[in-house]
Amino acid sequence: MQVFDGFVGREGPRDRLLAAFRDTLTGKARLVLVSGEAGIGKTSLLLEAVREMGESDAMAVWGTCWDAERAPGYWPWTQVFRALVSQADDELVRDVSDADRVDLARLVPELNLGGPAVTVDEFDSERARLRFFDAVARFLERAARNRPLVVALDDLQWADSSSLALLEFVVRAHRPVPLLVLGAYRRDELGDATARSLAAVGARAQHVSLRGLSPTEVRALIAGVAGDDVAEQWSAVVHQRTDGHPFLVRELTHAFALDPHGGSAGDIPDAAHHLIGRRIGRLSPHCRRLLDAAAVAGNELLVDVLGDALDLTPAAVATLVDDAIRSGVLVAAPDGRTRFAHDLYRETLYADLSTPARLSWHQQIGAGLEHRHERGANVFAGQVARHFAAAAVLDGSDRAIRWALAAAADDRSRLAFAEAAAQLARVRVALDDAGVAVPGDALVDLLVAQADAESRAGDGDHARQLLRDAHENAARIGDPERLAVVALGFQRLGARFAMPRTEVVALLEEARHAVEGCAPAVEAEVTASLARELYHSVPRDRARARPLSEHAVALPASLTTPPPSPPACSPNTTCCGRPAPAPSASKWPARSWRWPSAAGTTNAAAKDTCSPPTHSSKSDHPPTGPTSTPSSVSKTSSRSPKRRPGAAVAVDSGVDRSMLVGLAHPISPA
Ligand SMILES: Nc1ncnc2c1ncn2[C@@H]1O[C@H](COP(=O)(O)OP(=O)(O)O)[C@@H](O)[C@H]1O
Ligand SMILES: [Mg+2]
Repeated sequence: MQVFDGFVGREGPRDRLLAAFRDTLTGKARLVLVSGEAGIGKTSLLLEAVREMGESDAMAVWGTCWDAERAPGYWPWTQVFRALVSQADDELVRDVSDADRVDLARLVPELNLGGPAVTVDEFDSERARLRFFDAVARFLERAARNRPLVVALDDLQWADSSSLALLEFVVRAHRPVPLLVLGAYRRDELGDATARSLAAVGARAQHVSLRGLSPTEVRALIAGVAGDDVAEQWSAVVHQRTDGHPFLVRELTHAFALDPHGGSAGDIPDAAHHLIGRRIGRLSPHCRRLLDAAAVAGNELLVDVLGDALDLTPAAVATLVDDAIRSGVLVAAPDGRTRFAHDLYRETLYADLSTPARLSWHQQIGAGLEHRHERGANVFAGQVARHFAAAAVLDGSDRAIRWALAAAADDRSRLAFAEAAAQLARVRVALDDAGVAVPGDALVDLLVAQADAESRAGDGDHARQLLRDAHENAARIGDPERLAVVALGFQRLGARFAMPRTEVVALLEEARHAVEGCAPAVEAEVTASLARELYHSVPRDRARARPLSEHAVALPASLTTPPPSPPACSPNTTCCGRPAPAPSASKWPARSWRWPSAAGTTNAAAKDTCSPPTHSSKSDHPPTGPTSTPSSVSKTSSRSPKRRPGAAVAVDSGVDRSMLVGLAHPISPA
């Protein structure tokens, strides 16, 4: 059967989109939101309208959201800006100010190669975010002034909250330029938070709601797909049974075209699930297995990852992919990528998997992505994190936590703080649901990192609660350095959201006492922080500040001037000459996470360790997950053998370079 990719009908909605576009040409930016259920024709309508706008010399750029839990924050905007930068005039890109270039590099790192580092403002994340939003809007305005600009954002039901906040910012102001933003979303699949954000955005939008095709349109679609005879015979009944839902119309037509004499009105299944099942049922078991794995992997097929997961050569995978393309379940897009012909196929395949099969595929796809990363290719940390979290029952906590921390660091570097916090909350929930215990030190790391992200996202109460949990756990396992990190976290929180100074002072005092004499770098930071708090406290306390700050300066390992590494240190031996743990299977997560800290942060892998403080209640670690790997979280991210004072301490300049490397080459899944 011929593949028909023509567009039929929809004159009313198409006219409204084109009218909005013409409106923008008079110098008024516009937003139009298209809504309707999956398969109703939103993407097709946008594509058709954008094609027609292109005939009027508009530049169109496209961003598709996919599963906010797997994609990095601002993912649709990243795609939009990649396309913009590659299509726009050189001059437009060249004339971006240095300050804007640094901000836009959060979306497109290539914009700032060799330029100053992209940082996360330690004190004022909100202002940094506003500056970033402003840089984005300024670039869009300049591009639109050059040439009418259409930004299409598809599948907004899966957008991350930061992307929606940016969308709201872009459409909030009056922008006197020919800029049309088109959005599409599944109205019936909105989560509460997304619905609220879209409602705020929607107040400034025109709305187009799509329903089924008319009988005439259904007939035209069937005729295009299978010819006039099939249309003549079946269009009335197909319209009646599908309500004109174009995806179902296509599926039914496909079924009749394959077996024109085998159907009757009574045989027509009325659920997409059955139709899709029938198409999939005709595939070979090998091809079906490939599609099962692909459905777990995500929207786009990565041959190397699937080959790994299925234990097949790339050539064998390619042969199966060809079969699936011939069957119509997959399509080869013009950009050379292969994806599901519609997300409904992927969703149906995924829903039909048994629980053990699903768990196992998640583990294997996660491992495949990890291998891809080790080979130097691009992966999204959030995607890997999702697979290992879903497979926690089989895989244990180690990889799930490492990748969740990496994903959170990735989001943090893009100022997507709510997404960073969600990454960390999600992995704890996933491990809890799977009945997998989280090692105490890793739990503290997760809680502190989440508290930092929550506070930057503006939720001080939640951050405080998380730090309290972290404090309790650090005391329970008797980990002085983590007690210090928690105390410093409280101090930062106090600087952002008012907190009784006495509480902060007490926590810093406790931490200082715990690390005293065995972790100079941490001790210096805690002591300096304590001195700062006391200096701003009541007169009685103020007298203690000076000797403390002098003591902090005198400590051998200053955080601001790292001493050179002792020659005995090498990647494989500690400073005490003892062998260090083998490098973790995947270095990225371990390298990418740093302690969030106001004044600078210690590199966890290079830190000293102390014996447990006398005040700790219990020092036992909870048991690790059932299949913890040798490169466990506690080895890679926290406790190293005791080292002599003054040993090397890495200083975090606030920039996570490994993350920038990761961002420079993400996969483009959409
Ligand atoms: N107006 C149309 N003309 C022809 N085919 C259409 C039309 N609308 C939708 N389709 C087909 O229906 C299927 C689902 O449409 P799509 O635009 O992907 O839906 P949505 O984006 O709402 O999920 C696609 O195969 C598409 O080609
Ligand atoms: Mg769509």
